Amino acid sequence: MTFKYRRATPHDAETLRALHVLTFPTDDHENYLEGFWWIVEDAGEPCAFAGMRESFTLPGALYLSRCGVLASHRGKGIQRTLLTRRLAHAKRIYAPAAISTTLNNIPSANNLIRAGFRLYRPEDPWGSAGTLYWLKELT
Ligand SMILES: CC(C)(COP(=O)(O)OP(=O)(O)OC[C@H]1O[C@@H](n2cnc3c(N)ncnc32)[C@H](O)[C@@H]1OP(=O)(O)O)[C@@H](O)C(=O)NCCC(=O)NCCS
Repeated sequence: MTFKYRRATPHDAETLRALHVLTFPTDDHENYLEGFWWIVEDAGEPCAFAGMRESFTLPGALYLSRCGVLASHRGKGIQRTLLTRRLAHAKRIYAPAAISTTLNNIPSANNLIRAGFRLYRPEDPWGSAGTLYWLKELT
């Protein structure tokens, strides 16, 4: 199966919102007009998305904010590829590091480990109990 990965534009905000509802039904929305967003399409239909923005907690670093893959498309390496795409972009714009978080999510944690992330302890942890904090130096 071939998927099309593309950078989202502000015109994609509603598509991102719809994908977020389907993959994070209980979470608050992100701001889809800020930062960097990607959409994955299968035969022209959106099936996954991911975001990246400036970190609020680690100056200069980029935060991999969200990645959601429709249940019908999981287990096909889409999250892994979206991770690679975001890291490539972060390097292109000379970000010194990328960070992310996971909560009770073994596939995501394994994908982050595979991409070279390591666990770290932020000075002021912001997530709920059980959140894991991940960091990858890019320089
Ligand atoms: C977590 C999530 C993004 C993973 O996306 P994905 O595209 O299925 O991930 P990948 O295919 O890259 O990797 C998933 C791993 O689980 C395995 N897997 C097998 N069948 C699977 C299935 N039906 N569903 C999910 N994972 C499966 C994959 O083989 C892979 O493991 P491996 O690398 O050891 O082979 C997706 O499940 C999702 O959107 N979940 C809901 C939202 C969420 O929790 N997002 C992440 C927030 S940190």
